[in-house]
This record gives sequence, C-alpha cells and structure tokens, in this order.
Amino acid sequence: MKKIIIAIDGFSSTGKSTVAKQLAKALGYVYIDTGAMYRAVALFAMKHDLVGENFIKKQDLEDKLSEIQINFKLNLKNDIAEAYLNGNNVENDIRSLEVSQFVSPIAAISSVRKKLVEQQQKMGAEKGIVMDGRDIGTVVFPKAELKIFMNASAEKRAQRRYEELTAKGDKVSYESVLKNIEERDHIDTTREDSPLVKAKDAILFDNSVLSKEEQFEKLKGLALEYI
Ligand code: C5P
Repeated sequence: MKKIIIAIDGFSSTGKSTVAKQLAKALGYVYIDTGAMYRAVALFAMKHDLVGENFIKKQDLEDKLSEIQINFKLNLKNDIAEAYLNGNNVENDIRSLEVSQFVSPIAAISSVRKKLVEQQQKMGAEKGIVMDGRDIGTVVFPKAELKIFMNASAEKRAQRRYEELTAKGDKVSYESVLKNIEERDHIDTTREDSPLVKAKDAILFDNSVLSKEEQFEKLKGLALEYI
C-alpha cells in the first residue's frame, strides 16, 4: 500500500483526534497529536512560572526552549501514544482546563511554533502518518496528499469537551468550557504566525451531525482513494 500524509486540521474539540487515531489504526499509520505538543510546552511554562492569568514571560520561555523535550510512547495497555515531557508522562496533565487556558497564547509564539514544526516534519518524513492540529495542511505539510478541515458549532464542541472532562472527574462548568473554546478559536484564527485557516485544497468536513462511526467511515473512504 502507498504511504501518504493525512493532515487533519480544524477548530478545538471538533473530534479530530478521535477520528485521526481510528484512521491511523485502520491504515497501520502513525498518529501524531500536535495539540499535545503545544499543550506540553504550556505545561512546562506553567511549571516554571512563565505563564499566568495576566502574563507570559516570552523571553524567559524562549531561553528555556532547548530544555524542552517532547515525545510520544505507545502505552500497550490502552493502545494510546502518550505524550512525554522531559521523560515524564504528561498525557493526563496536559488535558486539564488550566492547560487549555494557557496553551493558545503559548502557541502564538513563533519560536515555539518553529521548534515544534521542525520536530513534526521529522516525524512525518517517512510518510504513513496521520497528523492533526491547526496548521498541518498549511505549514507543516503543505504537500500532504490528503487534507481535511474539520468544523462543528462552538456549542456542539463545548458539549463534547464538557462531557469528556466531567467523565474524567474534572469539576468544570459547561459555560467555562464554551468560553475557553471561543477564546481559543479567536486566538488560533487571528494570530500572526500560522493562523488556523482551511488550506485551499483541504476537504471541508462538518461533523456537527455525524456519529463517530460515520466520521470514521467517511474519512477512511476518502483516504483509500489516495492510497
Ligand atoms: O488540538 P488541541 O485543542 O489539543 O490544541 C491545543 C492548542 O494548541 C490549540 O488551541 C492551538 O492554540 C494550539 N495548536 C496549534 N497548532 C497546532 C496544534 C495545536 O497552534 N498544530
């Protein structure tokens, strides 16, 4: 089977990672969640007091970028490629609402993007990869064979995210999740470096009314046309 690059971009909590994971598994491809990498940098910044309610110490973070090592290791128990920050498993910590609140301003910093984009391009050099994020089809792999741009209404996305967080035991309100999603949408689409935008050759995929199964079947069908 031919190996291609599948780039899945879109707004926060559109369910990109769920379907990207399923697709990678079905095709025997590697799955990379680039949002996890930006989240890991945000977690690092939080732990070093480089970001807070009203501040970002951009220069201090830039000085420490070389100390940040992010990688993924497959957990054989749940078959999930979990994120590691400097050797520590941070898969759970990076999904908190607190990290969600700081990640988009951190992801708007060009030097952070440069570091992570370089790593992502190396990860996909051999193709056979499904990568999801905000700039995969536009910046990381502009020549990806298949590009998908996912969207759904902010309310629908907030509802899904709220259910995920409360199922984990996080005490959050629906309103705070919706507010966070709207704020991230705003920062992600208006930042100067690599704003979230649909690549011209990406296929628009609105999944507001599709079940997870339907999304997977549709995307698998599309992928098989290219392989
Ligand atoms: O995908 P996820 O919601 O986990 O991503 C968290 C944040 O990381 C996004 O809101 C966005 O600010 C940033 N991000 C990015 N570029 C990517 C992936 C994520 O700027 N390729």
